[in-house]
Amino acid sequence: MSKDTLTITDNRTGRTYEIPVEHDTIQAMHLRQIKVNEDDFGMMSYDPAFKNTASTKSTITYIDGDKGILRYRGYPIEQLAEKSNYLEVAYLILYGELPTKEQYDEWEHVIVHHTFVHENITQLMKAFRHDAHPMGMFIATLAAMSTYYPEGRNISDPWIRTKQIHRLIAKLPTVAAFSYRHSRGLPYVYPDNDLSYTGNFLSMLDKMTEVKYKPDPVLERALDVLFILHADHEQNCGTATMRVIGSSHTDPYTAMAGAAAALYGPLHGGANEAVLRMLMEIGDVKNVPEFIKGVKNRERLLMGFGHRVYKNYDPRARIIKQVADEVFEVTGKNPLLAIALELERIALEDDFFVQRNLYPNVDFYSGIIYQAMRFPIAMFPVLFAIPRTIGWLAQWVEMLEDSEQKIARPRQIYLGEGERDFVPMADR
Ligand code: ACO
Repeated sequence: MSKDTLTITDNRTGRTYEIPVEHDTIQAMHLRQIKVNEDDFGMMSYDPAFKNTASTKSTITYIDGDKGILRYRGYPIEQLAEKSNYLEVAYLILYGELPTKEQYDEWEHVIVHHTFVHENITQLMKAFRHDAHPMGMFIATLAAMSTYYPEGRNISDPWIRTKQIHRLIAKLPTVAAFSYRHSRGLPYVYPDNDLSYTGNFLSMLDKMTEVKYKPDPVLERALDVLFILHADHEQNCGTATMRVIGSSHTDPYTAMAGAAAALYGPLHGGANEAVLRMLMEIGDVKNVPEFIKGVKNRERLLMGFGHRVYKNYDPRARIIKQVADEVFEVTGKNPLLAIALELERIALEDDFFVQRNLYPNVDFYSGIIYQAMRFPIAMFPVLFAIPRTIGWLAQWVEMLEDSEQKIARPRQIYLGEGERDFVPMADR
C-alpha cells in the first residue's frame, strides 16, 4: 500500500528517515533531523534562485508551465481577458470571488474616489530631473507615499490594510501618468472620475486643451486587457520581493517600492523595454538570421523569450497577439512587428530554442502594442507595474494572514575562511 512519505537513507551513516509528503512536497525543516554527529546543524536543501522551492501555500494564481495554463482564483486567463475588466479582476484576485453587481459598484466607487494624490506628492515629482526615467520616479514616489499615510504601518488591522489597498490601486495610475507627463515636459493632468480605470489613465496621459477627454474605446479596452494579463503571476521575482519585505512588517508602500524595483530589471518586467530596444537594433527583417546566430553563440539573449515557469507558449503572449491586431486597426501597424514575427518564426523552428523550451513570454509583444499606442519605451515597465499592484497586495495580505509565515530569512552554505587573527595594516 502506498504511503504519503519519502524514505531517505543517509549513506554516510546508514540511517533511514521517513519524511511526510504533502502536496508532492517535503518540508525542508524535516531534513534538519538528518545528521552525522549529534551536534551537527542538520541537513539543509540548497536552491539558489529558488528553482525548486515552494515558499508559500497560495490560493490566488495557478500556473501549469508545461501546458501553458494561467488562472486567477480558478478562472482561466482567456475567459477573464474576454469577459471581464481590470477592476473586476482586481476584486477577484483580492477577495477570491467575482463581485456581485452591488459589490462591484461599491468597489469601483471607492477606487474612483481615491485617484487624487496629495499636492505635495505632485511637487515632489516635479523636483525630478527633466529626463528622469519614469520607473525611477514611480518607485521613489511609491516609497515616499508611506510618509503621507503613516497609519499604513499598522499592518495587523484589516481595515487599515484595506484602506491602503484602495489608495494604492487608485493613486498609482495618477503617479504613473505624472511621471510620463514629466518626461515629456507637459503639465500634469488631474484624474477624471467619470472615466473608467483605463480611460482615466489615458486621459491623464494624453489630455491637452479639450474640455472633456474621450478615450478611444479600442485603445481603452486593449489597455484594460493588458492590465488583466499582468495582474498577478504567483511567486515571480517582484511578488517574492513584496512578500519578503512585507514579512518584516514594513508598510505596504515601502514593500511595494521594493517589489516595483525588482520588476524594473530587464530579466523581469523591464524585458518589454529591452525587447523594443532589441527590435530597433535589429532594424530590419533581413538582419534577423544574423541576430539569432549571435544568440546561439551566447553573445546575446533573445529578450522576451524564455520563462522560469512556462516551458510552453506563455498564454498571455497568445492573447496579446490578438489584442495587437485590434490596436493596429486604430494606430496603424508597428513596423517592428514584422521583425518580431520573423524572430518568433525562426526561434520556434530552431533546435537551440526548441531543446530549451524557449517560447515568447508576455513581454515579447506587449512593447510593440505600447509603442503603437505612442507610449515612450521608458514607460513600459511602469505600464507593467500599475496592474501588478493588485497581485502584490493580494499576495501581501495572504502572507500576513498565513500563520505558517514568519520573517523571511534564508540560510547559506558558508565557504569562506575559518577563524583567523586580525593582522595590523603595517604587517599585511
Ligand atoms: N535567449 C537565449 N537563451 C536563453 C534565453 C533567451 N531569452 N532564456 C534562456 N536561455 C537559455 C539559457 O542560456 C540556458 O541555456 P543552457 O541551459 O544551455 O545554459 C537555458 O536557456 C535555460 O535558461 P535559464 O537562464 O537557466 O532559465 P531561467 O529560468 O533561469 O531564466 C529568464 C528565465 C530570466 C526569463 C530567461 O529566460 C531570460 O533571461 N529571458 C530573457 C529576458 C526576459 O524576456 N524576461 C522576461 C520574463 S517574463 C517576466 O518576467 C514578466
